[in-house]
Amino acid sequence: MINFDNENDTVVDQEVVKKLKGWGNYIQAKLGFRNHWYPVGFSEDLEENKPKPIQLGGEKLLINRIDGEVFCIADTCLHRGVSFSEKIECYSKDTVTCWYHGWTYNFNDGKLCDILTDPNSQMIGTRALQTYPVEEAKGMMFVFLGDVAEGDEPPALGLDLPPWFLDEDRYVMGIGREIESNWRLGAENGFDTTHIFIHKDSSYLTARDAPIPLGFATEQKLELGIHDKDGAPKGVVDPLMGNYRPVFDANIKGESVLSSVRPEGEHSTIYQVSLWMPGILTVENHPEPDITQVEFYVPIDEKRHMYFQILSKKGVTEPEQIHRYKEEFTSLHEPLALRGFNDDDIWARKASQAFYDDDYGWLEEQLFEPDHNLIAWRKLASEHCRGIQRAPRTGAARVVAPKKE
Ligand code: FES
Repeated sequence: MINFDNENDTVVDQEVVKKLKGWGNYIQAKLGFRNHWYPVGFSEDLEENKPKPIQLGGEKLLINRIDGEVFCIADTCLHRGVSFSEKIECYSKDTVTCWYHGWTYNFNDGKLCDILTDPNSQMIGTRALQTYPVEEAKGMMFVFLGDVAEGDEPPALGLDLPPWFLDEDRYVMGIGREIESNWRLGAENGFDTTHIFIHKDSSYLTARDAPIPLGFATEQKLELGIHDKDGAPKGVVDPLMGNYRPVFDANIKGESVLSSVRPEGEHSTIYQVSLWMPGILTVENHPEPDITQVEFYVPIDEKRHMYFQILSKKGVTEPEQIHRYKEEFTSLHEPLALRGFNDDDIWARKASQAFYDDDYGWLEEQLFEPDHNLIAWRKLASEHCRGIQRAPRTGAARVVAPKKE
């Protein structure tokens, strides 16, 4: 990790470091941001009383559904640091017992409620695992990766989602997969307007007769929508139209070397894109009108992220509409758009990882004009994050005092 206060750092020019201090929090957020909501999976994938380990922001967590409600606790025993998920043992539906020496914790408040091997221990009732608030919405489970003082509530889930995401007339379907790159390379890959160059050979374009340009030439005036008002989601919107001219022909030294099919008439090949805290992309009218693709880049650890690819379709509320949309999703959108088309993006993120792995890539990269929206995003994220996620030492747990009865 780069230490911005290290005046003796000779690897990078200190002037460059000073310039980048405007997005210093972002560069340090290798594990994501603390005190934000992140999706951790689809509700249908968590069965009743079947605890499941997950990793979020470098922390090992255990989620469980009890009487329909989802709970999340640290997956690290306070006694000697092993993970419950090595061998899950639950002797009552609302507790987990450590397989090693029998320390037993409540799922709802993390309290050490019993020790099976020494029921007289003075430790019982005096310690608690950290617990994390969970909410379910749109068929997904969201965990608040943060610290909530006793008697307080976490910020509303809607503040960490695109503004319309929870609208009742939108139906959401999607997939999730683990990607071997830092989460920021995912977020920036999606928002980066000229990354579409990698899609020029995608079979999706011919299969769907949906040509896209090779790139976007910047116009003189570049305008972005910056959403930074208190009490509302924070994000950067790039309207694309007006900011760029689509590039359909590419030349080297005046000679045409590549071209892509120009769409006919008013065919819209330019979609508004936006990037929201804590790392959520939206692409409007993609893969087709009335659908917005929403991508969550959720930090697993420093080198991996969960990539949730969600298609949110407007006006789908009736059972028949839902049935049709599910069929459309399974037969068309998932294989062609989410896997075929987006596999190019995944490949690009993995290929970028080595350059940014030791963090100096953030200083050595040479950005060009179309990257102005990435800079706006980095600044917004640095200014409006509620904290930077730091993982506890590997295997160590955060010990918290149990809540008062
Ligand atoms: Fe868990 Fe001892 S390490 S009870």
